[in-house]
Amino acid sequence: MIMDGNGRWARERGKERVYGHFEGVESVRACTETAVEAGVEYLSLFAFSEENWGRPEAEVTTLMELMASSMINERDTFMANGIRFRVLGNLSRLSEKLRAAIDEMEKATSGNTRLTLIIFLSYSGKWDIMQAAKRLAADYAGREDEMAGLDISAFDKYLVTAGVPDPDLIVRTSGEQRISNYLLWQSAYSEFYFTDILWPDFRRDQFLAAIEAYAGRDRRYGKVK
Ligand code: IPE
Ligand code: IPE
Ligand code: MG
Repeated sequence: MIMDGNGRWARERGKERVYGHFEGVESVRACTETAVEAGVEYLSLFAFSEENWGRPEAEVTTLMELMASSMINERDTFMANGIRFRVLGNLSRLSEKLRAAIDEMEKATSGNTRLTLIIFLSYSGKWDIMQAAKRLAADYAGREDEMAGLDISAFDKYLVTAGVPDPDLIVRTSGEQRISNYLLWQSAYSEFYFTDILWPDFRRDQFLAAIEAYAGRDRRYGKVK
């Protein structure tokens, strides 16, 4: 889910942009419940991009605080519903306090297996590919022959999504039809679903409609049937 349109949702109501972020948390809750209900195994939410650090400081601070508080509030729900919680991205840019909260939640929910809920925070696709390339190069320094023989799956292991399947479906709300530096490598064969609905209005029915649209897609992976 590229959760977009919170600011516009609030402005349409004559309110501050952050009001839309608060309402957006309710959509996260609704979509998480719907994912469990529908048997989705991985739900990934693009919550904050590397580029979003360039927003006004007050908005960034509110978003980070919202992230921390909603995470802690959801603990019981995650445990009761078998939800494993993970956060992926350039976490070095987050505050010590937020990182500690993430760490605690990831540990507490690590044994849950029904749904893996991944929050992409301070994430960008180009950053991910870059950090993977750097780490791979460092690991293979002095072993260039071996490096030359590596395949795609070897590179996959260096991305922050190592071990997580590539997304089957990428939903973007708010009418924008772009990827905004989300999972660039991992979306090579993802299906896309764009809707004009703003994120705070994207709830159970809208998610189920996206799943239904996905069910009608014909995924060929470049082959002929
Ligand atoms: C999505 O809503 C949330 C984040 C990117 C953090 P926006 O804040 O981008 O809302 P719009 O696109 O300005 O309406
Ligand atoms: C994409 O939304 C990022 C997230 C949803 C976290 P943006 O609002 O940042 O994207 P642009 O600026 O419209 O491309
Ligand atoms: Mg936006």
